[in-house]
Amino acid sequence: MTSNIVKFVYKNKICEIEDPDPNETILNYVRTKLKKTGTKEGCAEGGCGACTIVLAELKKNNIDYKAINSCIAFLPSLEGKQLILVEDLVFEDKLHPVQKAMVNYHASQCGFCTPGFVMSLFAMYKNNSSYKEEIIKDSIQGNLCRCTGYRPIIDAAKSLNTESKFDHFSKNKNITLSLLKKINQRDIAIYNNNKKYFAPKSIKQLKNIIQKESNSKLISGGTDVSLIVTKEKKDLNSLIYMNSIDELNYLKEKNGYIEIGATTPLINLESFIKKFFPDFSSILRRYGSVQIRNVCTVAGNIGTASPIGDTLPLLLTLDTQVVINGKNKTQILPLNSFFLGYRKTKLKKGQFIQSIRIPLSKKNIFKAYKISKRIDDDISSVCASFNVEINNNIIKKIKIAYGGMSNIPKRAFNCEKILLNSYLSDKTIKKAKRLLEKDYKPITDTRASKEYRMQIAKNLLEKCFIEIRQKKLIRINF
Ligand SMILES: Cc1cc2nc3c(=O)[nH]c(=O)nc-3n(C[C@H](O)[C@H](O)[C@H](O)COP(=O)(O)OP(=O)(O)OC[C@H]3O[C@@H](n4cnc5c(N)ncnc54)[C@H](O)[C@@H]3O)c2cc1C
Ligand code: FES
Ligand code: FES
Repeated sequence: MTSNIVKFVYKNKICEIEDPDPNETILNYVRTKLKKTGTKEGCAEGGCGACTIVLAELKKNNIDYKAINSCIAFLPSLEGKQLILVEDLVFEDKLHPVQKAMVNYHASQCGFCTPGFVMSLFAMYKNNSSYKEEIIKDSIQGNLCRCTGYRPIIDAAKSLNTESKFDHFSKNKNITLSLLKKINQRDIAIYNNNKKYFAPKSIKQLKNIIQKESNSKLISGGTDVSLIVTKEKKDLNSLIYMNSIDELNYLKEKNGYIEIGATTPLINLESFIKKFFPDFSSILRRYGSVQIRNVCTVAGNIGTASPIGDTLPLLLTLDTQVVINGKNKTQILPLNSFFLGYRKTKLKKGQFIQSIRIPLSKKNIFKAYKISKRIDDDISSVCASFNVEINNNIIKKIKIAYGGMSNIPKRAFNCEKILLNSYLSDKTIKKAKRLLEKDYKPITDTRASKEYRMQIAKNLLEKCFIEIRQKKLIRINF
């Protein structure tokens, strides 16, 4: 049943908002309408974590707790979820174990970042049974603290290992589950003045809406689209939200390829793809932050056609296919011819990406590198990917692609040509490095100069082959 009312669970009740403004952020709603000002606004672009809240979602018969950036999440995306704010952690006047740990370890000074850290650590506390350093650092990679420093925050998180895992959310689990089930199956159509918002629940509904509302902007995680509103201060008058379509949220291996459903969050892909392409998983671990990866998708990354989209050079070297759906029959297009120009793809009005297919090969070596100013939550200066097959030191197959080197993520065809069927030697690598200058004319911007980018691109090519020759091979492991 289509509804114009967004329903979500808050404080053990189902709350309703009729025809909300589709461009209002959850952060704005929480601070100005719910009058809960614990959640802060820092950057308004997903980069600082001050606005972190947790959305709990039904996952089979369980609850999945996701930390998200409320500053770049539109209000209607609350539909069907439980909203958890920093104010909700206190129970019967007692601090939650996560809050208590932050106090005990002096993990806050000015306190502006603190609610965000608490919420990121709360999601970590709920989703894991023990908290190793790696899990802790990943959980707070999207939270910036400029005065306390991270050591006491990490110590506070570690101390949770000895705390009880049973909190008032555990106590209320059955109530929350039954409330979430009551509001789980609704698709949404909102009309607010001149703005429209649709959240279909099935591919069939999506296909109908997309034909009728072909001027709408598709939105999955919204981590790129939302900035049009929050940073560019423009309106998005018609949105079709894809991430309610569970049919498109899947990962599978079949017939020699892996398939990624369009609404699958990157956080799920990160663990799934490790077995096939460990370097792909390592790049994803450094992709935005947990808050970003909890909602954003590969389909969205492809949809941006961004020259610095991190999955794009990787997918290009892996001969990825994009499954397109729309008015006509399903089409399968090679990603290698999908990008037409700066932020332009072959996708036509009325079409959407249904899934992404990555072929598997038993013989290849896959490597990928991301160079950015910071390890965590930073945009690439250069991202490089290599898919190589070598037999008796002869390069039998080679695909190389770079991000950050041209107006679209692009293969290095000239460089590939000189390497193909060549004996792997210092001389060959030297020649190949020179040919990168023919493949790319990078630009200078705030992230890096053109000279730096070219030098890095050459160095990464050399690094890749040094690692291969040193037999630090990362092979696909079936
Ligand atoms: C703080 C922050 C950090 C970031 N870090 C990184 C990073 O490290 N690396 C990186 O590459 N990017 C990064 N990004 C950019 C962004 O998160 C990615 O591009 C992300 O993959 C976009 O996915 P999404 O689902 O959120 O896309 P959305 O914002 O929902 O959509 C992006 C584009 O794709 C289109 N689209 C979405 N889904 C579909 C579909 N199924 N079919 C057709 N078109 C579709 C939309 O219309 C839009 O044009 C970051 C963004 C932020 C805010
Ligand atoms: S306000 Fe900085 S991430 Fe939202
Ligand atoms: S306590 Fe001040 S920014 Fe973290």
